[in-house]
Amino acid sequence: MIWTIFLLAQAVLLYLILTNRSRSKSDPPLDKGVIPWLGHALEFGKDASKFLNRMKQKHGNIFTVRVAGRYVTVLLDPHSYDTVINDSDSLDFTRYAQVLMERIFNLRLPHHQPAKAKALTKRHFIGMNLSALNSTMSRHLQASLKAEMPQNQKDWKEEGLFNLSYSLLFKAGYLTLFGGEQNNNSADPSSIYEEYKKFDGLLTKMARGTLKPEEKRTVQSVRQRLWELLAPAGLTEDSGSSPWLHAYRRLLQEEGADEESQKKAVLMQLWATQGNVGPAAFWLLGYLLTNPEALTAVKRELSGISQMETSETSLLDRAVNTPVFDSVLEETLRLTAAPFITREVVQDKTLHMADGQEYMLRKGDRVCLFPFNSPQMDPEIYHEPQKYKYDRFLNEDGSVKRDFYKGGRRLKYYTMPWGAGTNGCVGKEFAINTIKKFVYMVLTNYDLELCDPNAQMPEVNASCYGFGMLQPEGDLLVRYKPRNAH
Ligand code: HEM
Repeated sequence: MIWTIFLLAQAVLLYLILTNRSRSKSDPPLDKGVIPWLGHALEFGKDASKFLNRMKQKHGNIFTVRVAGRYVTVLLDPHSYDTVINDSDSLDFTRYAQVLMERIFNLRLPHHQPAKAKALTKRHFIGMNLSALNSTMSRHLQASLKAEMPQNQKDWKEEGLFNLSYSLLFKAGYLTLFGGEQNNNSADPSSIYEEYKKFDGLLTKMARGTLKPEEKRTVQSVRQRLWELLAPAGLTEDSGSSPWLHAYRRLLQEEGADEESQKKAVLMQLWATQGNVGPAAFWLLGYLLTNPEALTAVKRELSGISQMETSETSLLDRAVNTPVFDSVLEETLRLTAAPFITREVVQDKTLHMADGQEYMLRKGDRVCLFPFNSPQMDPEIYHEPQKYKYDRFLNEDGSVKRDFYKGGRRLKYYTMPWGAGTNGCVGKEFAINTIKKFVYMVLTNYDLELCDPNAQMPEVNASCYGFGMLQPEGDLLVRYKPRNAH
């Protein structure tokens, strides 16, 4: 017994000596936290935005923290973001993405070529093919709205706005990309959504590896169920799903991925394409309903467009100028899009800050930008950054405002909901078009209002910073009925 304790103590001591790290002159300030190995993991996981603000007060715009055995250098100066975003030789996007792929989707693709998969997605979501995708999405959005919010409904119906927006957009998005038409042999969108919701609720914990034993069991069974439901998606050309998914399946097959891995990869794509659009539409509508002046301005702009149009499906399929809506979307995403832009340092790199300082990034560490804290919520850039101001991105003459400053210098990145550079969001245009259409269809066809006229927006769930769009704690209760039902 005494020997076991002795050997254990030796092992722990050796581990501490080997992993002990001290700051050299060229390193950013180092903050390991007091708990061995874990470092700051608990505080980081509880509310990353608050934690990183605390670190910024203590160390400035760049610092290295220890989080669950890893050293992560956090950079919070938007003037210096290009040094990270533009260096894909020393700072690698795919390695960390693969870690998440394994943790969340239990997926390993040994012969995977991320560049090929990305080029394929670009071919379908950008340029010529995008308009076909947009009009299929319009059709499914209209059908989903009619099914869930029937035109013959006479009385007000109450529902949580988050659930309403997420479920509608998810189902329409699923039918557009994965399931094809309703009633074919693919899975019913409602059953997929029910399972997906449980999966989505545990996603942050999966990514951090902090699931409790009973949550692990839930994840395993939900994942299994989703794999089964998604099994036929994209498998054959006539499966009814989009040409994009069929081409993606073919790529996986060429790379030698077995059926099991293909199903897992399809679930990953379901999350990548559906996980952010519904929450973004919720925040946008929620802010409009709680800010009557903004709602009036958007309705005025959209009704101007609807008077020009004859067919609803063709609306917004062509480029229509909507500066008010664009400002409303930009302001919504400023307040609620909070991705970490994370890269793995694959060779030592000297990071040149905009203020002339230089720091060494060490191979094996990670580097992370958190644009939510700066620029998006930075009081030096935005007056009263916590406040929603629908016209923040409009000039006085009604044109788009693009000039924002920090330290007296104009910013290249004043919001970053879509990331930037080579790894910026491929689905940005599709997502914007979808959200715009959804908002247009809801506001022109339905009376939609808060159940409690004094209701405020729900708080954000502070444990999910870092994974794209934030989600609310609770929901915002609304009521609706079709416009013509009087
Ligand atoms: C409101 C909706 C969305 C938001 C806020 C969003 C946000 C983001 C962000 C921040 C990144 C960059 C991650 C990084 O640099 O580390 C990203 C990447 C990506 N997004 Fe989106 N996204 C949205 C919707 C979509 C949709 C609908 C698609 C469908 C195609 C999509 C496909 C992708 C892909 C494929 C990448 C990875 C790009 C690469 O491999 O370099 N996103 N997205």
